[in-house]
Amino acid sequence: MSKISMWKASTSETNFPKLQTSLSVDVVIIGGGITGITAAYNLSKAGKRVAVLEALKIGEGDTGSSTGNLYCTIGDPGLHSIESKFSANKAKEVAESRADAVRFIEDRTLEYDIDCDFKKVPWNLFTEGNESSDYIEKEKEAAQKAGVITNSNICFPLPVTGFMVPNQAQFNPLKYVKALAENIHSDHCMIFENSRAVKIQEGETCTVETEEGSITAQYIIMATHTPLGIYFVQSSLAAYREYAVAVKLNSEYPAPGIFWDMIENEHYSMRVYDSPKGKVLMVLGEMHKTGQKDYNEECFDNLEKFLRDRFDVASVEYKWSAQQFKAVDGIPYIGLSSGNNKTYIATGFSADGLTYGTLAAMIIADEILGNDNPWAKTYDASRLTPIASASNFIKENLNVAAELIKDTLKKAEVKNFTDIQPGEGKIVEIEGQKCAASRTQEGELFAVSAICTHMGCTVHWNQAEASWDCPCHGSRFTQKGEVIEGPAIAPLKNINTKDD
Ligand code: FES
Repeated sequence: MSKISMWKASTSETNFPKLQTSLSVDVVIIGGGITGITAAYNLSKAGKRVAVLEALKIGEGDTGSSTGNLYCTIGDPGLHSIESKFSANKAKEVAESRADAVRFIEDRTLEYDIDCDFKKVPWNLFTEGNESSDYIEKEKEAAQKAGVITNSNICFPLPVTGFMVPNQAQFNPLKYVKALAENIHSDHCMIFENSRAVKIQEGETCTVETEEGSITAQYIIMATHTPLGIYFVQSSLAAYREYAVAVKLNSEYPAPGIFWDMIENEHYSMRVYDSPKGKVLMVLGEMHKTGQKDYNEECFDNLEKFLRDRFDVASVEYKWSAQQFKAVDGIPYIGLSSGNNKTYIATGFSADGLTYGTLAAMIIADEILGNDNPWAKTYDASRLTPIASASNFIKENLNVAAELIKDTLKKAEVKNFTDIQPGEGKIVEIEGQKCAASRTQEGELFAVSAICTHMGCTVHWNQAEASWDCPCHGSRFTQKGEVIEGPAIAPLKNINTKDD
């Protein structure tokens, strides 16, 4: 089964041009997901001349791999963690600002009559059985203190205990972002696809180069999930992959809603969707640090088992995975990058990226337009939060250092390319250089440098997705070494070696 998200399989392609010229605009936005396209909407509406550069197709990065859930609460680490690290008021700001972003999305669906299956649904957090958990009780209390309406009317076809928040929402994120892009595309809001940023120069005037064109602008917005290149904020982020499986059931489906089943301290997110293959139940979970799990195909198996243990599964219809970046203090970084007055960043959304991406676009557009935004301070990208961040900051940076040391000491996994089987990827040493060699299922061999072009960590084979993933800051590369997602900008160097 190909690992394409349900949203990609159910949405028609956009057809924006490739950048093949030199342009000058007020703001260049790198990244055409929900953050980039929403920022383009806000800025172009206010009269700014804008260009969006999308490396692939609009929305087909992480926006198109998400759950399509929109809610004012948050996942890991939870509102109660924001309250204990910062204050009850900060947790309230987070919930209120996220509710604003959900309303913004609803307004755009109405403004352009976007057919993206947007509907209001309850958000539910529970544990299975008759006993609540410490996490759920703390989260309920924090949500109530933050002004979020809660009740215990969970409607789910299994015995569960927890709480529900009414009036949250679900949609098809890819249909939404593609339709928004199509509606705003104009002479002063130019959208380019297949136009990867390959060189970024910040200065009084900023320049972004693609392979066949360039754009100069007063400001850059990095709407790329994590900023491209080397930024201080990357020491305060951790990259994770998670997995999704969608199945058809023989039994009754849950009602429309967002269902988070807490198992220990991780949630499994479930929802129902009317896909092109009929009604399906999807579950998303099995998170691990990017590039730090050897046999990640088992994540799909575990999710399938999760569903089979609870429902009468008829067939598995879709499998896909997604990336997320967690901020060490639990709050995203949105705004001008630290020490920079030209580049805006938006990162650290955890698994709550559709709502946070929209919010980030609202905040950044207001900052560029000189408008006051009530939430800008809450998410200030240059903030220092030594107490709230300390333990996770140390943990994440020790983890990066450990990966660097481990990989420096690590020996080649095989001696020859002939030792690599179809579907496998291994580190081979060629004339003292580490080489990431892999074969397609058909046996074709690819060999590229194993050294990540971001900051020099060694990439690891992602068996389930046939990619090379960096364990340090989450860059991902194809078997041929092309960048799938940053922070790396440059591809892995090709190694021309005969298949021996
Ligand atoms: Fe930073 Fe690879 S992503 S070193």
